[in-house]
Amino acid sequence: MSIFIRAYAKINWSLSVRGMRPDGYHELDMLMQRIELCDELVFERARRITLEVDGQRLPGGDRNLVTRAAQALNDALGKHMGAHITLKKRIPARAGLGGGSADCAAALLALNKLWNLRLPIKTLTQLGLRLGADVPFCLQNGLCRAQGVGEILTPMPDAPSIPLVMLTPGGGLSTPSVFRAWDACGRPSTDADIPALALALAEGDLARAQLLSHNDLETPAIQLMPEIRSWKERLRALGAPCVRMSGSGSTVFAAFNNAADARAAAAQIPGAILTRTLLETDFEEI
Ligand code: C5P
Repeated sequence: MSIFIRAYAKINWSLSVRGMRPDGYHELDMLMQRIELCDELVFERARRITLEVDGQRLPGGDRNLVTRAAQALNDALGKHMGAHITLKKRIPARAGLGGGSADCAAALLALNKLWNLRLPIKTLTQLGLRLGADVPFCLQNGLCRAQGVGEILTPMPDAPSIPLVMLTPGGGLSTPSVFRAWDACGRPSTDADIPALALALAEGDLARAQLLSHNDLETPAIQLMPEIRSWKERLRALGAPCVRMSGSGSTVFAAFNNAADARAAAAQIPGAILTRTLLETDFEEI
């Protein structure tokens, strides 16, 4: 038996940092959505846990979130089950697109099935949160508000599929460095009206979405990588009504009113990724 699963990237329409917790993590208030850009994973029964990666150099062994997800399931159940896992990587790393968390969530879902564990999604979510703050969100579909460190999730009404053009300048940024830079640069914090932003997206009003969205990590990320600002300006100049950095960067995404406008803008930028947001109905059951 083998299981195929897609692990979808995410974007942050908005990200407000609300403060720091004693454990060093930051309290956030975010509006997130999964997008069509994805990694692909295949899981097969095997004696040991092994991972083969195609498309990118990634940390191997215990440092990889896919292997760690498999290990966490075994540890939680006191078992020693194995799987050969193949990961085809397309989501850029250090990009603010949640690629590692998406792979981790996909591994929890697929191994739950491959190993016939029948664990409820709540248990997978608790295990996933220990592996990465974005994993609980990656176990959900559709548009979601995420609070706490990312584990308090409130589904929002589905928005139409929105065409996106994105690029990841400078080979990406390290998430802990961006949070450290936020601490050092005066902790800029903005309140975003997340329900109003979700409504603007549901109505396809991207100009209003631009006014209502924020990303508090843009200031520190731009300090570390100034070209993020120039790419934002370039995408606005190409006619995108809504442009933001995703997560802790360095990906900058531009949302367009229609696919033709997005294609025309992407054609101007070598290496740009053309994709779209996903609707709840786009997800297949595994
Ligand atoms: O949980 P994850 O491994 O994705 O987080 C990577 C790093 O990002 C953490 O070690 C922490 O430095 C930072 N982080 C944070 N607050 C969050 C999420 C991540 O400070 N809510």
